[in-house]
Formats: sequence, C-alpha cells, structure tokens
Amino acid sequence: MNWKKAEPKQNSLMRKKINPVNLDTISQEWDIVGPARQAAIESGKDISLSKVTGPCILENLREIKHNHIIDVGCGTGFLSSKLATIADECWGIDSSKESIKLASRKYKKDNLHFVCSSIKEYKSGISFDACIANMVFMDDPEWTDSLKNIIKLLSPNGKLLMTITHPCFWPQYWGYQDENWFNYLEEIFIQGSFSITLERNIGTTTHIHRPLSNYISMLLSQGLAIEKLIELQSSANSTPSEINYPRFIFIQAGKIV
Ligand SMILES: C[S@@+](CC[C@H](N)C(=O)[O-])C[C@H]1O[C@@H](n2cnc3c(N)ncnc32)[C@H](O)[C@@H]1O
Repeated sequence: MNWKKAEPKQNSLMRKKINPVNLDTISQEWDIVGPARQAAIESGKDISLSKVTGPCILENLREIKHNHIIDVGCGTGFLSSKLATIADECWGIDSSKESIKLASRKYKKDNLHFVCSSIKEYKSGISFDACIANMVFMDDPEWTDSLKNIIKLLSPNGKLLMTITHPCFWPQYWGYQDENWFNYLEEIFIQGSFSITLERNIGTTTHIHRPLSNYISMLLSQGLAIEKLIELQSSANSTPSEINYPRFIFIQAGKIV
C-alpha cells in the first residue's frame, strides 16, 4: 500500500487549534450541524458512514451477541435505525438535543429508543450485549469518563465496537499535519469546518486529536481486551489519492469477566 504519497484533501478549509472546550460546547455545535448532516446522510452523501464505518460495524456485529444494543453518540440516528433491524432492542443516545429530536422524528420503530444524555451520565436497568460508538470519541472531550460508564452498561461478556478517525493519517487528510501547533503526541482541540467526502462546509465542529496510544492504553487500563483492530480505507467513491491511506480505525474490545 503506497500511503506515503497521500495528498491532503481538505487543507483549503481553515482548521485552528483552540483551547479545550467542554461537552456543552460540543453538543451545541452538533445541534447546529444536525439538520444539514441528516440531509446529507439521507441524500447518500455521507459515504464514509453508509459505505465504510457503518457496514464495518454491522458486519462485525454478526459474529457477536447483539440482542440489546446501545449506540452512544448516535447523532441523527441513521446507524441506530440500521442496528434496530438486527437487535431486539436498540437505544441511541446523544448529548445534542437537536440531533436526538431529528432522530426521533425520522426513525420510528417499536424497538428503537432515543435519549438525550451524555454518555457518562446515562444509566439503564439493561445490560447491553454491544455498545456502538461510531465516530464519537475523537469528538468527545470526556472520553475516558464515557468509556468508564460504557463498561458499566455492558453485560459481563459485552463488546464495545468503535470507530475513530485514524490519528496517524487524519492530520494529513485535514491538512493540519504541518501546522506549527501540531504535535502528534499531544491531545489537541481543533476547530474547523465539518465536511464529508461529497459535501463540504456543513458547519463548524470541534475535533480532538489524540495519539493512537491514548485510545489503546485507556481501553486496556479500563480492563477491556482488544479483540480486533482494523484500519479502514476510504470508500470506492473516493479519488485515488484518498484511498491510498486508511482514514478510520475500527476497534472491537470485550469486557473481561
Ligand atoms: C461525528 S458525530 C457521529 C454521529 C453518529 N454516531 C454517526 O456515525 O453518524 C459525533 C456525535 O457524538 C456526540 N457526542 C460526542 N461526545 C458525546 C458524549 N460524551 N455524550 C453523548 N454524545 C456525545 C455528538 O453530539 C455528535 O452527535
């Protein structure tokens, strides 16, 4: 795989380092972006979700118990609605009120429930077989607290299936790799235009760069066993320079009983 020649694809869209922000700020950003994001997803423009990360999660769920699923950071609910087709019961939770409103309005199924909550504060009487976190943790300022609560929500043999942007290649893709403020080994809050492959400038969101070791160490230190790690290429609709490096990472981690 010739990934060294990868071209930055989105460096024309200004991205800047900002001071750390809290979850309220992040949720407000997603409140604003929600309607445009749902429209983009529904018109088939979010091919990373519909062709790469979503299918990867659904494929890997086939091999594990998935009667009760929780989709944390579910956004406007597209993936939750797919999960509800294979689960007995599915919960989608998100801290963005507007996203949850849009999800509840659009996807109505008897076994699909949407709740506005932060991940760390969510409580349930149900033990979940699988927790899905699709493209959430690199947008989550409190991801370690989120992870601790996810472990409580999982059943004894429950699995966490997560995707994140690939920290080694995303800086190149978003064009901030050579900025003087960028240091791969630091946690850095970066504000900029939220864009997907087929639609640019959906709104402003904050992305948190963390080195890959931060995610791996935290999963291990919280007592999860990493069962799979897959580096995901972009979708078939991408241009050649976009598909020669992995843009996303999928991790499956199991709770050790
Ligand atoms: C990039 S979007 C992904 C949405 C959805 N999972 C998808 O794949 O389309 C990230 C979402 O995570 C939510 N989020 C981030 N941190 C969260 C937290 N700690 N608790 C609840 N939701 C959170 C945001 O509000 C946003 O809707």
